[in-house]
Amino acid sequence: MSARPNSATASAPRLAPAEDPIIAAREVVKSYGKTTAVAGLDLAIWPGEIFGILGPNGAGKTTTLEMLEGLRAPDSGTIQVAGFDPVREPERVHRVIGVQLQSTALFDYLNCAEILALFAALYGADASPARMTTLLALVGLEEKSRARINTLSGGQQQRLAVALALVNMPRIAFLDEPTTGLDPAARRALWQTIRDIRETGTTVVLTTHSMEEAEQLCDRIAIMDRGQIVVCDTPRALIHDLGADATVRAGVASGTLTLEDIKHLARVVAAELRDRDGAVMLELRTTDAQATLIDLLDLAQRRGVTLSGLSTAQATLEDVFLARTGHRYEGDGMIG
Ligand SMILES: Nc1ncnc2c1ncn2[C@@H]1O[C@H](COP(=O)(O)OP(=O)(O)OP(=O)(O)O)[C@@H](O)[C@H]1O
Ligand SMILES: [Mg+2]
Repeated sequence: MSARPNSATASAPRLAPAEDPIIAAREVVKSYGKTTAVAGLDLAIWPGEIFGILGPNGAGKTTTLEMLEGLRAPDSGTIQVAGFDPVREPERVHRVIGVQLQSTALFDYLNCAEILALFAALYGADASPARMTTLLALVGLEEKSRARINTLSGGQQQRLAVALALVNMPRIAFLDEPTTGLDPAARRALWQTIRDIRETGTTVVLTTHSMEEAEQLCDRIAIMDRGQIVVCDTPRALIHDLGADATVRAGVASGTLTLEDIKHLARVVAAELRDRDGAVMLELRTTDAQATLIDLLDLAQRRGVTLSGLSTAQATLEDVFLARTGHRYEGDGMIG
């Protein structure tokens, strides 16, 4: 079972760890023939949080969502969603959830307001024009109320799919890669929409390939790899738990430094000195980039060493992924 959010590091004060999880999964397994898509998954999601499942292609994110949504039965293990079992009580689960599938085929000949009203009617939810306007405004499509779906851009269709997931005022909204394929501005706009959804009290469970999205948007994340959750916590806690919050890099342009010299600099937790085609590069992992930098510059000064290409980088979820899985994250082609 995943750890409860640590109040010292949780990024969202609205998390209420005293409550029971709204979603709980234990030892869930799902295979497709010889492929084990989900290999023993434990999960606890708290009411009112934006929970992200982050992982590369084929990690098992969609399969996990589909099992939580009651669209796919696990081979073994147990799942509870808002107190119901999605396998035995699918109707009860469907009444309290909203679902945006990874690809949604919409009816091209309807306009935005009409398709929302159709979905609302199917759910027995409020299909009034006022409610349709509210939903369209929430996803930034108020101008497109009368636009046919086949005239919307890909990003606008994606936002409409998010609105469709909200027609029945669900307690939990499942969004499968809601921002994939959006341009950076549209992506940020949808992040704000998702935060607005959380403000209405809806728990949001989303999947993403994007480390940046997970870090910026999600209260807590589960990093998934090869069917398993490798780690689950707030982004800040995951980075903090690495034990090194930043990396300092520099080249040695002239003079000499040894590994022994640099590994004792202030706050350094790991040091590397590499010789790349005659160019010596140093890399320091540190809990305090500023203190390390000051110490390094002081050392260079005393030794008559000239440094080049000095840089610092804050640790990111990519570092967490590498540390926890032993391989680099290539989810969005972001790392070569
Ligand atoms: N219907 C299916 N039949 C057979 N194998 C499947 C099916 N759906 C998924 N798989 C396999 O299960 C594994 C997990 O797939 P899943 O779609 O859950 O991954 P994902 O994390 O959502 O990936 P992506 O980021 O590409 O959407 C993959 O190896 C995939 O090929
Ligand atoms: Mg998927």
